[in-house]
Amino acid sequence: MTGGTMRTVVHTRQGEPAQVLTLREETECPRPGPGQVLVRLLVRPVHPGDLAGVEGMPGFPDDQPEVRTPGVEGMGIVESVGPDVRTLRPGRRVAVFPAPGTWADYVVVAEHLAVPVPDGISDETAALMLVNPLTLRMLHRATDTALGGAEGAVLQTAAGSSVGRLISAAAIRHGLPLINLVRSAAGARRMRELHPTLPTIATCDDDWREQVRHHAGDQGVRVVLDCVGGAMTQDLAELLSDGGTLISYGQLGTGSTPLERLPLIGRALTVRGVSVLHWPSRTPEERAQDVAFALDLARNTPDLLEVAATYDLADFRAAVEHARRPAKTGTVLLTTSQAPRAGRGAA
Ligand SMILES: NC(=O)c1ccc[n+]([C@@H]2O[C@H](COP(=O)([O-])OP(=O)(O)OC[C@H]3O[C@@H](n4cnc5c(N)ncnc54)[C@H](OP(=O)(O)O)[C@@H]3O)[C@@H](O)[C@H]2O)c1
Repeated sequence: MTGGTMRTVVHTRQGEPAQVLTLREETECPRPGPGQVLVRLLVRPVHPGDLAGVEGMPGFPDDQPEVRTPGVEGMGIVESVGPDVRTLRPGRRVAVFPAPGTWADYVVVAEHLAVPVPDGISDETAALMLVNPLTLRMLHRATDTALGGAEGAVLQTAAGSSVGRLISAAAIRHGLPLINLVRSAAGARRMRELHPTLPTIATCDDDWREQVRHHAGDQGVRVVLDCVGGAMTQDLAELLSDGGTLISYGQLGTGSTPLERLPLIGRALTVRGVSVLHWPSRTPEERAQDVAFALDLARNTPDLLEVAATYDLADFRAAVEHARRPAKTGTVLLTTSQAPRAGRGAA
């Protein structure tokens, strides 16, 4: 514990994170039960989904505990193990997901949700290696199902995001005809430099829809991977070819589109959601394959898990502000620093 106390970021109601989140210091450490391990966390990300969980989002469970702690992944060291824990021992470096409440110095998690981290992977990379790579796997499966072997382009929104960059890298590796959308001209320039072989279109251009149609060609857009939603959903649905699928996995945008305004019936479109929080319900074999994929990605292409900046856990408000900055690249991390705080968290 830090100075004999355990720090936990908590909120008791939903709302603007800067207003509802506070830091609580406690002397009692949670205890692992049967099949569980207690992890002393060192690094955890600030994901957009963590902030959405604090603000409240449709479909998030209402029956949550009165006092909640954000964060679903992170990395740290096994501090102690409960009865019936078979493989993990104290001192083991692990990445955890899903582990609700990682914005704390300690978290208790089931043994099978703590992934041992090999030596070659840094703490920062380990803290980021599960949520976004597993989301990529789920989006990849959903895209394959939606394509069903048919030809056609895949269009993704917010392509400069951390997940978007993983999708671009995967599309290049698998030869998937991906069209990237970003919201600004500067963002488009950054993406074209990073992935010159993929078309990138800025939605600030008046003719962005025509540009998408031009790049999609005769087959049109078969699948949209969308994490913007809101008012943009209407345009995205209209860009789909008949029988196409809109896969919604985030809500970064503003405004809304009533379902009735979408050409779902006449154009035989499908709309479906994907959430990494449903990943634990996959079969043990699929989960093992997905974790092996995440470890491989973390070991061989850690630059795909880019860090925007690190802040001490106590500086969570500054970290949240940074995580929301336009044109940020990578993910903001919250650390439990062993080193003096001065100089950390600089943007
Ligand atoms: N469903 C799931 O299981 C799951 C899992 C992981 C992530 N996600 C979602 O995936 C999305 C991306 O997450 P991330 O961690 O990769 O994000 P990130 O690295 O924080 O990047 C956010 C990106 O979104 C763009 N953006 C922000 N607001 C926008 C808006 N109103 N319109 C268009 N673009 C906007 C930003 O563009 P600028 O560069 O122009 O600022 C930036 O490129 C989020 O919605 C997140 O909730 C979902």
